[in-house]
Amino acid sequence: MRHVHVRAPGKINLTLRAWPPTEDGYHPLETVFQAVSLFEDVVARPADEVSVEIHGRGSDLPTDGSNLAVRAAELLRETAGSESGVHLTITKQVPVAGGMAGGSADAAATLIACDQLWGTGLGREELAELAAELGADVPFALTGMSAMGTGRGDLISPVMSRGQYHWVLALQKEGLATPDVFAELDARKDLTRSSSENAEDDGGATIKAGGEVVSALLSADPLILARTLHNDLEEAALALRPELGDVLAAAERAGALAAVVSGSGPTVAALALDAPHAASVADVMRGAEVASEVQVVTGPVAGARVIEQVGRH
Ligand code: C5P
Repeated sequence: MRHVHVRAPGKINLTLRAWPPTEDGYHPLETVFQAVSLFEDVVARPADEVSVEIHGRGSDLPTDGSNLAVRAAELLRETAGSESGVHLTITKQVPVAGGMAGGSADAAATLIACDQLWGTGLGREELAELAAELGADVPFALTGMSAMGTGRGDLISPVMSRGQYHWVLALQKEGLATPDVFAELDARKDLTRSSSENAEDDGGATIKAGGEVVSALLSADPLILARTLHNDLEEAALALRPELGDVLAAAERAGALAAVVSGSGPTVAALALDAPHAASVADVMRGAEVASEVQVVTGPVAGARVIEQVGRH
């Protein structure tokens, strides 16, 4: 039967700086993303309506019009003036509400899959615009690899990277809602103010921070990258979920080069030297029982791409 199978990666934020929200409620960001080898697989099959079923993690996620993949299919259908439907089968590896943009990866994969299935003829640029409409992290899931995100995090500039980095991810069963973490950041006015004052006092400082990661990624040296990891949302995530302090401490005790909360959390990403080191850090972290699951991944990996296509439109 005709179908298109697209795979899109989850991400971690190597650095993330946030400024107070603008009128639209969004916080201007400067972040460097890296796509890592936890994937969302989306298979799109022709159907009369738009529908979705979810396997793997998140089988309790909504499958109605509030599902981001359903919204992606509907937005593409509207934009392309198509009357086609699709049945989406999503197999999730990326944690739900984990700060790794799993839902955004679903949306990015759905855009590519439906574009192929329906032969809409939209270019990559138009798809990227639709992606930004769907959510701040969706454009990066299309691009993958390593990239700088500005604006809401949706303005993507690819960043050169050499080598493969080995990460140990500490996942939590209970997710954190991104708006809650940003709201906590705002409530912690002092923090917000000091972050923005830093930016005003020395406009070069944040550019330098982003620039440091960019040159670290060129070095292919995890010891250099380790020194640049930073997340302005970390304190807010820790305030909402104090146990994350134990996860960061466990990563340090396990010998990770550095550890950081990814995006709005609660996933913690710990950087290792190489694959054997990552395996040993993961073992120690599992033993520490601070996470519901510990996974070893590598990055950077490609953005949303077609894995298999059977039949043509
Ligand atoms: O764009 P997305 O729907 O993924 O964003 C979810 C929520 O995260 C937004 O409604 C907003 O509360 C918060 N957010 C933000 N600033 C950003 C990105 C997200 O405040 N740059």
